Amino acid sequence: MKPKTLVTREIFDDVLDYLAEHFMVSANQADTPMDPGTLARNLADKAGVMTTLVDKVDAALLAGCPQLKAVCNIAVGFNNIDLAACSRAGVMVTNTPGVLDDSTADFTWALILATARRVVESDAHLRRGEWKGWYLKQFLGADVHHATLGILGFGRIGRKVARRALGFDMPVIYHSHRRAEPEVERACNATFVTREELLARADILSLHVPYAPATHHLIGRAELARMKPGAILVNAARGGVVDDAALVDALAKGRLAGAGLDVFENEPALNPALIGLPNVVLTPHIASSSAATRHAMAMLAARNLVAALTTGNPPNLLNPPPTGA
Ligand code: GLV
Repeated sequence: MKPKTLVTREIFDDVLDYLAEHFMVSANQADTPMDPGTLARNLADKAGVMTTLVDKVDAALLAGCPQLKAVCNIAVGFNNIDLAACSRAGVMVTNTPGVLDDSTADFTWALILATARRVVESDAHLRRGEWKGWYLKQFLGADVHHATLGILGFGRIGRKVARRALGFDMPVIYHSHRRAEPEVERACNATFVTREELLARADILSLHVPYAPATHHLIGRAELARMKPGAILVNAARGGVVDDAALVDALAKGRLAGAGLDVFENEPALNPALIGLPNVVLTPHIASSSAATRHAMAMLAARNLVAALTTGNPPNLLNPPPTGA
């Protein structure tokens, strides 16, 4: 008998067809979010699951799923999954790196440009019927070209964002836990700086770090205070990396010129004060959401699941067993 698997949210039909060649698949194509109890009930007899970043996989869930062998997240981030608990339970965990880098970098630029040049604010003005005609000082924004772009986190996506800055003639500075190789720095025209320098010098600061205890509120009150007055902050990485309440204060006081945010603390709830601020661009965690990329992510997660349950060695395994095991 084919192994039983679960897909927690709606995915593409051809990806389901591919899964069905290998598994008995229960798919939540109605796309209703599963609360922890529902997820636990649905997963109790399954060997594998394709999760999304809103599905929490922790020790409590795993305790009720003795047959579970693989959790394949349809996301590059995996802070919804307790990796150590999965390893203890002998459950393989995979993510979807690589396939979403370009789309996420593109979207980061959408946020940079929309925030600096006040695209959303002026669009709303027009839709409200308030436009009375052209005048010189209307919606004065910040120039993106030749501004200094700061990148915090210089992995695959951070580097793609940096490369796109070449076309805007921007000096790029970055900070990361590890300095990139000289050829990468050259290709991105990017200079490694300390975190302090990054905060002090960036006109536009874009975040590209994963969420983990070590990156919780990495940009908090103190860091915002060290940023250049009038700078712009962009977060298309993960909620929780920024202290949203501190950011609201910095924006409301005019300390920062604006923020472009695709991710938030406590999604899908938003800090209500963000809604009232005209100088923020808000999008609902869609940086990777081009049709082609979301399909590629789902297919990669499906391939990971098939490999996990057939060979025990999925390509994007996050928790390989210790060597010698
Ligand atoms: C999206 O946020 C992802 O981690 O893939």
